[in-house]
Amino acid sequence: MTVDRPVSPKAPFIWHGGDYNPEQWPREVWQEDFRLMKQAGITVATVGVFSWVSLQPAEDRFTFEWLDEIMDGLHRNGIRAILATPSAAQPGWMSQAYPQMLRSDDNGQRRPHRHRVNYCPNSDDYRRLSGNMARALAERYGDHPALILWHVSNEYDGRCLCDTCAARFREWLQARYGSLNELNYRWWTAFWSHTYTDWSQIMPPLATGEVLTHGLNVDYFRFMTDSHLACFCNERDILRSITPDIPITTNLMGAYKPLDYRRFAREMDVVAWDCYPRANQPPGEIAFMHDTHRGLKDGQPFLLMEQTPSSQNWQAVNALKRPGVLRLWSYQAVAHGADSVLYFQWRRGRGGCEKLHGAVIEHAGRADTRVFREVSQLGAELAALGDAIVGARLNARVGIVFDWDNWHAVEDAVGPVRDKHYYATVCKHYLALYRQNIPVDVVFPDSDFSQYDLIIAPMLYMVKAGFAEKVEALVERGGTFVTTYHSGRVDETDLAFENGYPGPLARVLGLWVEETDALYDDQTNTIVMADNSGVFTCGHLADLLHTGTAAVLATYGEDFYQGMPVVTRNTVGAGDAYYLASDPDDSFLDRFYVGIVRQYGIAPVIQPPDGVEVTVRYKQGKPIIFLLNHRAESVSVALDKAGYRSLLHAGLVGSQVTLGKYEVDILVET
Ligand code: GLA
Ligand code: ZN
Repeated sequence: MTVDRPVSPKAPFIWHGGDYNPEQWPREVWQEDFRLMKQAGITVATVGVFSWVSLQPAEDRFTFEWLDEIMDGLHRNGIRAILATPSAAQPGWMSQAYPQMLRSDDNGQRRPHRHRVNYCPNSDDYRRLSGNMARALAERYGDHPALILWHVSNEYDGRCLCDTCAARFREWLQARYGSLNELNYRWWTAFWSHTYTDWSQIMPPLATGEVLTHGLNVDYFRFMTDSHLACFCNERDILRSITPDIPITTNLMGAYKPLDYRRFAREMDVVAWDCYPRANQPPGEIAFMHDTHRGLKDGQPFLLMEQTPSSQNWQAVNALKRPGVLRLWSYQAVAHGADSVLYFQWRRGRGGCEKLHGAVIEHAGRADTRVFREVSQLGAELAALGDAIVGARLNARVGIVFDWDNWHAVEDAVGPVRDKHYYATVCKHYLALYRQNIPVDVVFPDSDFSQYDLIIAPMLYMVKAGFAEKVEALVERGGTFVTTYHSGRVDETDLAFENGYPGPLARVLGLWVEETDALYDDQTNTIVMADNSGVFTCGHLADLLHTGTAAVLATYGEDFYQGMPVVTRNTVGAGDAYYLASDPDDSFLDRFYVGIVRQYGIAPVIQPPDGVEVTVRYKQGKPIIFLLNHRAESVSVALDKAGYRSLLHAGLVGSQVTLGKYEVDILVET
C-alpha cells in the first residue's frame, strides 16, 4: 500500500530551510535571522544540533530559556521547527566526569575530548545522559506548535574499539552464535591456529591486532551498527513515549560504509540525508544516492536534510555551485522522492572549522547576494507548489540490489584483485538505466521483489540465506535477474560456499564457475556476441565458467579462455537469469539493459536529449513529470503530447519545452 502522505500533517508542503545555530550568536542577531528567513521563504529550521553544552552546562543545570525564545520566535514568524537532540557532541564537562564515555581509536586508545561524535556508543553514561536530554526536550517542547519532527543526534559515525565495546561485542557474539564451537566454525579459525578456546580471547579488530579474520570484521561492522542504532533507539523510544505523534529521524550520509543504513531506516519514521556531492559530480551519481535513500524505506519519500546553498569547505576543492545549480539539484532531489529542500547552514559561524562553509547568510550578513537571491527564488517557488508534490511516490519496475554486509565482505576479502569498488560497480549498472531515464529503485536482499520485472545484483559476493529462493520466484513468474562476476562466493559469515560458485545462485543461473582471472588496469578482453551483433570490451575480473542449462549469448574474444562463455542466459519458468562473467564497458550495458526493459514495455514517458533527466512521481495515481536540464546550455525537449500544465511556469505547455541552462520544469496532466 502506498500512501501519499506528508511527513507531518502540520507541514503538508515541501519544507524549505535548514540548520540554524542561534546559540552561536548574540540575541540581536536572532531578530535579524527571523526577518531574513521570512524574506528567503524559509519554512522550516533545524535547531539544537550540537547544542548540548548550551542546554546543559553542568549535569544538574539545564538552560532551556534561549531555546524557548527561539522556538517561540520561529513560531511567531510562521517557521516550523525540526528539533534535534544535541547528542552528537557531548560537552567537555561530561567527558571529564565520565572518561569512559570517550571513544577509542582503531588502536584501542581512548581519545581526548575533541571534535564531535567522540563518544563510545556502548557507554552507559552516554546512553543515560543523552536519554535524559531527549526526555527533557520532549517534556518541554513536545506540545510546542512549531515542532514537526525530531532529529535525533547528527550523522551517526565511525566506530569505537574500547574495552567496553570489546566486552559488549563478546556478549553480542554469544547471542549470535550460541557456542564458541559454532563461532570457530563460522569464522574458520583453525586457519593460522586462530581457534578461540575462551570467549575472552576475542578482541575487536584493532589496527595492530586481528584484522584478517573476515568473519570477525564483518561481525564487528554489524555490531557497531547495532551499537549506534541502540543509541538512536534509546533516544527515539523516550521521545516516542512522550510525543507519539511527532515523527522521528536522524540524518544519514549517503554512501557511508561504516553503518548499515538499511537497518537504521527500519527504526526511523522517515529517512533523512545530507547530500554533499562534488561541484563537478555527474548528476547520475547524485541521482543514485537519492534513489538509495528512497529505497531505504521501500520507496517512502525522504528528507533532503542538508545540502550547501553554495560550497562546502571540507573537500579538496570547494567550487561554488554555479548560478542555477542549487535550484536544479534541489529539484533533482525532489524529483527522486525528497519532500524537503534544507541547507546546511542558515548563517555562517565566525569561528570553528566550518567558518568557511557555504551558508544562506555569509559573514557580510547581507541579503543582497547571489546565494540569498537563489535561495529566496526557490523559497517562493516551493511555497507556490503547496502540497502538489508532497507524499508522491515513484514507480520503478527495475530494482538494483545494494547490501552493506556485502560491501564490507567483498572489499575485505584478499583477492582476486585488491580494489573491488562494490559501490562504484553497483552505480555503473544503475547509470546504464539512468542514461535511458528508466526509473530504478535501490533494493536490498530483504526487500520484497514482487513489484519488479528486473532485479540486478552486481558483484553480490555474499549471498544470504533465502535470497536465491526469492530470485528463483522472481524468474519463475516471468521476471529477469542479472548478476555478475564475483557473485555467489560466500555466505553471511563470509564462509565460501561448499559447492563452489555462484553458490545458491547456481541453480537459477544454470552454470558453475571454475576459475576467476584478474586483469591488470591496462588489460582488457572482449565480449563477442554469439549472434554477431557486436564486440564489446570487458576487464577487471573474468570468470571462467561452464554452462549447464544456461545458453551462451557471448564468449570471450581473447586469451587462453577465448571462446568460453562471458554472457549467459538461463530460462527458468517464464523468466530469465543472466550472468555477466566480466566487467563490460558502458556501451554493452546500455544495449543489454535496453533489450531487457523493452521486453517488459518499460520506457520513459519522454525521451529527452542527452543531459536532460526525466523522472515521474505519482500523486493519487496522477503523474508529476520532472524535467531537469543538467547542461550549461538550453535544450528543447519533445513531449509525448501537448497540453501538460507546468507547476513552475504559468499556462499550458505545447508539444515541446525549451529548458534554459540548468533549467527545470515540472509538468502535470490537465
Ligand atoms: C554534515 C553535518 C553538518 C555540517 C556539514 C558540513 O553534514 O551534519 O553539521 O558539518 O556536514 O558540510
Ligand atoms: Zn567503546
